[in-house]
Amino acid sequence: MEIKYLIIKNFRNFDNREFSFNRINIIKGPNGKGKTNLLEAIYFLGNGYSHRLIKTEDIVRWGTPFFYIKGEVKRKEGLIDIEISYKDKKIIKINGKKIQKKIELVSKLPMVIFYPSLVDFLFSSPYRRRYFLDREISKFSIHYYFNLVKYINLLKRRNIILKKFQEKGNMWNYLDTIDQEIIKVGIKIINKRREFIEKLNKCITIFTELFDFIDFSVKYNPSLKDIDEFKRRFFKERDRDMERGYTQKGPHRDDFSFILKKHDAKQFASQGERKLIVLLIIFSLWRLLKRDELYPLLLIDEFSAELDNEKIKILSELIERSNGQVFITSLEDIDYIKEKKIISL
Ligand SMILES: Nc1ncnc2c1ncn2[C@@H]1O[C@H](COP(=O)(O)OP(=O)(O)OP(=O)(O)O)[C@@H](O)[C@H]1O
Ligand SMILES: [Mg+2]
Repeated sequence: MEIKYLIIKNFRNFDNREFSFNRINIIKGPNGKGKTNLLEAIYFLGNGYSHRLIKTEDIVRWGTPFFYIKGEVKRKEGLIDIEISYKDKKIIKINGKKIQKKIELVSKLPMVIFYPSLVDFLFSSPYRRRYFLDREISKFSIHYYFNLVKYINLLKRRNIILKKFQEKGNMWNYLDTIDQEIIKVGIKIINKRREFIEKLNKCITIFTELFDFIDFSVKYNPSLKDIDEFKRRFFKERDRDMERGYTQKGPHRDDFSFILKKHDAKQFASQGERKLIVLLIIFSLWRLLKRDELYPLLLIDEFSAELDNEKIKILSELIERSNGQVFITSLEDIDYIKEKKIISL
């Protein structure tokens, strides 16, 4: 799929602009001209929310009451229109028809995005790494998303009971029922995460072979590794949870680490290496999301910053060899990419 045409009104610093796009698009211009904002509009069109963790109202152009974006998207079955408007509340329409759930949008215009602060995000807390991976896995499996929601709700109920236990005492039966449920969905989440990381690592290997230095993989560190440990923790070692009044272990405590040259990248990787690691993850997700030989959209904010020429060249070749639509922001043109549309802001 490809965005052919985009109209944006009152979105960030843009008042009323129209853009037409090719397969590879370089959004170029000096600082503060709106490169990231344009990329954000494209992301918004495919997801119904911004890639930056902000309130939707912050996107509305200062001093105006609403924003509007409309994209004409070419898909296998033909052209579709996606419209998103915001004035106090958000309305999303596909071919003029209002949709109820954002998830309906994601399948129409799948995309992956790299942006500089994603590096800090992924190198910060386990919570943020989980947030990122859960969101990505949910793009592949709606069941995973539903299981996650179910797990979180069960966990909340369990924690309430654990707290009440301290006051009231006997609520064993209730806890038994919840724990049986929680183990059932919890193990599905763990298995899916493990399977996903395996697939991701296979893609990462394909890309790392192109780079000479790289011995890189993602490692899954589950808080409970299998069903036996799960049962033991939830049934047999409840006392400790009760003492504390919350559930100490489970998929809500899982983490992922980035292993570079056999060491934890969190502690040892250089700035450029960190960026490359995150780009490799994004490129791998891009490949994993490929359906019927068609790549999803790839969005990269500040492509060349912090990378040496050799890395930019290899990544540029990868982009040229693919068949998905690509949007890259950069202060300068990227000479390694030959066939492209330059959008100067
Ligand atoms: N809601 C808004 N209304 C009006 N202007 C806004 C709004 N939000 C952000 N801006 C402005 O948009 C401008 C462009 O921001 P953007 O981040 O897209 O620049 P950029 O071209 O990516 O720059 P850089 O090269 O520094 O990354 C900024 O000057 C910012 O003040
Ligand atoms: Mg920017």
